[in-house]
Amino acid sequence: MNSHFFITCAPGLEPILHEECNRLRLGKVERQVGGVAFQGRIEDAWRANLELRTAVRVLMRVVRFTARDADALHRGASSVDWSKYMSAAGTLVVDGHAKDSEIDHSLFVAQRVKDAICDQFRANDGRRPSVDKEDPDLRIVAHLTKNRCSLLIDTSGVSLHKRGWRKFQGRAPLSETLAAAMVLRSGWNGRAPLIDPFCGSGTILIEAALIAGGVAPGSFRKSFAFERLPGFRKDAWERMREEARARVKFPSKLTLIGLDQSAETLEGARENLASAGAADLVTLEQKDALRFPAKSGWNAWIVTNPPYGERVGEVDRLWPLYRQLGEKLRDQCTGYHIALLSGNTKLARSLKLDGLETVALKNGAIDCELLVGELQASAAEKS
Ligand SMILES: C[S@@+](CC[C@H](N)C(=O)[O-])C[C@H]1O[C@@H](n2cnc3c(N)ncnc32)[C@H](O)[C@@H]1O
Repeated sequence: MNSHFFITCAPGLEPILHEECNRLRLGKVERQVGGVAFQGRIEDAWRANLELRTAVRVLMRVVRFTARDADALHRGASSVDWSKYMSAAGTLVVDGHAKDSEIDHSLFVAQRVKDAICDQFRANDGRRPSVDKEDPDLRIVAHLTKNRCSLLIDTSGVSLHKRGWRKFQGRAPLSETLAAAMVLRSGWNGRAPLIDPFCGSGTILIEAALIAGGVAPGSFRKSFAFERLPGFRKDAWERMREEARARVKFPSKLTLIGLDQSAETLEGARENLASAGAADLVTLEQKDALRFPAKSGWNAWIVTNPPYGERVGEVDRLWPLYRQLGEKLRDQCTGYHIALLSGNTKLARSLKLDGLETVALKNGAIDCELLVGELQASAAEKS
């Protein structure tokens, strides 16, 4: 039987996730604010968890009802037979969200739904599940918008950006989902040279390597929440994972280059590369970013997020770096493709790169811009 699912993603990534869902041939795919809806079977949710690079969570809707007050919320939550999803001996947690509704308190929504579930178990079974915020058997998301409440079951568990390959964090690592989104949005073909001159912990290069080889991003994970749902078929899931593994094939020649000025950071990046099985695919060099290789006529991609100075005073030191980077990109990299993420609009403008598209994104809580497109020559050079 088909269920309704909602896949969440970071703000701004909806179009990229939407394209991924279409490529995965999920059914009745629909782009919405904050993610993508689809209809399908639980096995489609397994596949979405395993294969999608920009998804954060895959949620399965179990009920939708109108709730203008606490009683209606309790009634609606009680209309579900929760024994289909967990046992009284299990643990649960409810994440509540309330927006534009009579009930405007997210915690209250969570509490009320949790009470309804526990009341149902106690009435039927004499026992009730307990709450575990860290590692519950069942995570339920309660979404109340304009007095309409959806209860959804989280099939992912730990956020999908936690692929399982990361050993080293670094100072400001990019989330894996955002790094993958940058590579996908850059239009990289999976074969051309790709350079990250500010590679840090290596996130972009690793996600690019996984894309090039067709490695399922979820293949490193130890577990997903759907494995704990009653009726989970371990053998079928193992077959799906095996099929994904069998598909992996890296191009015979792949040029992935990362630069960073910090030896310690590069050491960490090497640990991450090894853990992701990409150590032999990427060349790392301890160098100033401005010394990245540039050859005339090279069909290369630059995908990167330079530092943008989160702390007071840091930005001042970055102006010369951005100015020189802009000069090099304009003077020596005509025809290259770029996807550059910056959390500082003024710094990004100071690159003086014409003809690029600007995509608004969020990196955690920071509003960012992704500049994407093909690099053009300096105005002076053109004339
Ligand atoms: C925002 S972080 C990049 C994070 C990276 N995307 C990741 O996922 O870990 C910027 C990186 O640029 C490096 N960096 C800063 N200035 C540099 C320069 N002039 N040359 C080379 N690397 C530089 C820093 O050491 C830092 O690792």
